[in-house]
This record gives sequence, structure tokens and C-alpha cells, in this order.
Amino acid sequence: MRKTVRVCTPRYLQIGEGSVSCLPDILSAIGKISSPLIITDKTMVELGHVAKVQSALINQGIACGIFDETVPDPTDEVVLAALSKLEAGKHDCVIGVGGGSPIDTAKAVAVMSRYSRDIFDYRPPAEFNEPGLPMIAVPTTAGTGSEVTHHTVLVHAATREKISCRGEAFVPTAAIVDYDFTLSKPKRLTADNALDTLTHGIEAYISQKRSMYSDRMALDCMRLVGKLLDRAYADGGDREAREGLMFAATLGGLAFSNASICLVHAMSRPLGGLFHVPHGLSNAMLLPMVTEFSLESATPRYADCGRAIGFASTGDDDQTAARKLVQGLYAYNKNLEVPSIEAFGIDRREFENALGQMAEDALRSGAPNLNPRVPTKDEIIDLYRQAWSTAS
Ligand SMILES: [Fe+2]
Repeated sequence: MRKTVRVCTPRYLQIGEGSVSCLPDILSAIGKISSPLIITDKTMVELGHVAKVQSALINQGIACGIFDETVPDPTDEVVLAALSKLEAGKHDCVIGVGGGSPIDTAKAVAVMSRYSRDIFDYRPPAEFNEPGLPMIAVPTTAGTGSEVTHHTVLVHAATREKISCRGEAFVPTAAIVDYDFTLSKPKRLTADNALDTLTHGIEAYISQKRSMYSDRMALDCMRLVGKLLDRAYADGGDREAREGLMFAATLGGLAFSNASICLVHAMSRPLGGLFHVPHGLSNAMLLPMVTEFSLESATPRYADCGRAIGFASTGDDDQTAARKLVQGLYAYNKNLEVPSIEAFGIDRREFENALGQMAEDALRSGAPNLNPRVPTKDEIIDLYRQAWSTAS
């Protein structure tokens, strides 16, 4: 537990149904913004989410440009393409609209417009703190928490190495947290995003960089997911569940951004970078076994997690509550149909050949050192092998 903590958040958080209509007010509060560039992907355009953001701007006489070529696991190439469009259009602000990837791309564009454009300059422990261009995050999924975090994850296009870029420069200037966008999301995405949120809450709470602040955010994040995930999965139109999960995602982002992620995320990123497993899903595939591996090194903390989610009761002692957490996480994966790595369709030989590199990439991220139980390379490889055939 840290004795002091410097909390870093967006200057404005506009939360609740219909928040997107407040976008022009936010732009005027930030300063003289006259020409934003929306950074998004083609799915957001097709779903009408971009039109919704655009019409909020047009209603107030603000014209904007659109870059809709972001990709899952955003690469440095895509960021450079967006930067060219930004400069050609003389835009003075970026608005990231979408899930984690468009928002992470927008954050990288805002920062790289001021700093280096070479992705390798952003490898940890490098940190960038002076703000770049003003950046507004408009999340359309309830998961990554990217709208409030001081990280952005980029992939080097040639080597597929995932790099977690860090620093206060990556915190959006403002975030619009409007759960209306999530009502159209399918079951798979709903579950994966919520399990990503839950992983943020758990990892922030057991992180060696936790603080009184991150603990509160993390516990409330876990409580909301535990209470509402099943409801949103069963009925995507359950507005109360959607609202709660959207807020949980923001709380989870505040928690881990002001503490850290740990071993689950460290191991999850190489699965995304090399095998294109969606981020929330790769976390979900690993969460039960990594929790089991770490349990004895922080039993009381994991017990709190079990009680917050609702897997354990306040009457359970720590050993029981921690054990119920692991059982509950396996049960989530079963009920929410999370596949094993094998069932996802990855080739066994390619997976085996990549294990050494994945373990090294995980260790290089630094996050395993903040886990309650710090793993060796061989232990990480063992955990990947456990997750190969077991998700539930
Ligand atoms: Fe995550």
C-alpha cells in the first residue's frame, strides 16, 4: 500500500444517459476548439455512433473531420496515418469514439503530435507527462476504462510487440461516459468487456501499487460487475445494468490507472498481440488460473474481492472467501461461455513455439513484479499451458 498517491484523472467526466449532447459545452470549457478530428473505426460509423457524436457538434455549429481507419490492437502505422490526417486538416483536438482501440489510437495521436513518433521511444519505463493536443474520449463499450487511464497500448506493426505507453499525457482531457452506446452490444462483447472491467478491479486491488484511493474505486467496480453482469448478459436492453456496468468500467479504469494492472494483463497482451485474441477475452481466459496461482500470497485481499463480487459472504473467513473467488471466476467463464485458448482456435504448435516469447514479453511489461506472487518465466509458461485447455 502506498503512503501517498497522486491521483490523475480527466479534467471533465460527463457521466450518464445522453451525456454526448454535452460535448460542445465540454469543448468550450477546454478552450478555443474549432476543428476536432473524430478518430474511430468503420463499425462505429455503421452503428450510427459517429453520426450521434457528429450531430451533437453540428447542432452547435462545429464542423469536424473523421478518421475511421483504426484497427483492433492499434498499430503505430495507423497512428501515423491518423496524424497525417490531423495535420492536413489543421485539426486542434481529437475525439476518440469507440471501444479501447479507437480511444487508444486517439490518445496516441494526441501525444505523438507533440512527442516522438517512434513507438519504441514509448517502451516502459519511459513516461510522458506534459499534455499533447486536447483529447476527448467517448467510449461506446463498458470495459477498457481507457477514457480515464494514463496508458495506451500500441502494437509495433512489423514485430507485433505490444507496448504499453505511459504517462499523464495519455489521460484524456475529458471523457463522455454515456451508456446509451452500449445498449446495442452483443452478448460476447458484453461479457468480455465486463470481465475486462472485473480484471481491472481485482488487479488494482491486489497490486503492490495500490492505495486508499484505488482500493475504493476497485471495490465499487467489483461490486457493480458482480451485481449486474448476469443481468446485462441475459438482457442487453436492461438499462439499469448497462448504466452500472458503464460506470464500473470507468471506476475500474480509475482504479488500475492509479495503481496498476498485474499478471493477468501482462500475460493477456501477448495473446492479443500474437494471436489476435480480443483483450477482454484473453483476460477472461487467464483470470481464474492466475488468481489461483497468486491466492496464497494475498489471501485477505483476494477474500475482499470475493465478497465484493458477491461470490462469498461477509460471514466467510478469508481462506473460504478467497477460495470462493477462484470458484466463482471459473463459474463465470463457464456461464458466460468463455473459450479456452485451444477452443478459440489457435494452432497448438504455433502456441507452443510462442510460449517463450510471450513469457518474456509479459515479464518485460514490468506488471508481473507488481503481482502479489511474482512469477518466474517458467511459471508463466506453465500458466499459459493451463489456460490452453481450461477456461472454465
Ligand atoms: Fe484491460
